[in-house]
Amino acid sequence: MKNLKMQTQRNIKNIVLVGFMGTGKTSVGILLSNMLNMKFIDTDDIIEQNCQERISEIFANKGEEHFRDLESKAIEKACLLNHYIISTGGGAVIREQNIQNLRNVGLLFHLDATPEVIFQRTAQQSQRPLLMVEDPLNRIRELLKQRAPFYAQADYRIDTSGLTVEEVAKRIFDLYESFNKKR
Ligand code: S3P
Repeated sequence: MKNLKMQTQRNIKNIVLVGFMGTGKTSVGILLSNMLNMKFIDTDDIIEQNCQERISEIFANKGEEHFRDLESKAIEKACLLNHYIISTGGGAVIREQNIQNLRNVGLLFHLDATPEVIFQRTAQQSQRPLLMVEDPLNRIRELLKQRAPFYAQADYRIDTSGLTVEEVAKRIFDLYESFNKKR
C-alpha cells in the first residue's frame, strides 16, 4: 500500500542521473539533453553559482556536512524544474530525503562503473575532494559499497564501464522512450 501510494505520487517530468564520480553523468546528461530536446542542469553547478565558490573550496573551508546541506537545497531547487535532465553529485543520494525529492519529479537512472574504471577516469582530475587521499582506489571501493543501497533505489542501472558516452545516452534514450510509451 505504502509503495503504491509512493508510486502514484510521482510526477515523472524530468530525467535524473545519479551515480558515483566518474560514471559520466555530466557528459551523458549534456548529450541526452540534445537528443531529447530537454534542458540540462547539474546540482553541483547550482551550488557553485549560489556560493560563488568551487566545490573543492566549500569542502576545504566549511567541510562536507555544510556541502551536503547546500546540496540538499540545490536538489530542492532542481526539483521545481520541468522537462530537464538533472545531473546530481555522486553523494547526493546519501540523504534519503534527496532521493525521495528526486524520485517524486523524475525517472532515476543510476550510472555505474567498476572501481578500476572510476579510478582511471578520475585519476587526472584534481577537483574531487573526496578522492584527494593516499589510496583513491580503495576510497572508491569503500564509498561505492556504502552508497550501493542508495543507488539501488534508482529506476534503472546502467554499467557504463565498457560503454562510450554515446552508447550510454542511447540506452537512457531508449529506456525513457519505452517508459513513456507504457504510461
Ligand atoms: C561528490 C561528487 C562530486 C561533488 C562532490 C562530492 C561525492 O560530484 O558533488 O565532490 O560525494 O561523490 P560528481 O559526482 O559530479 O563528481
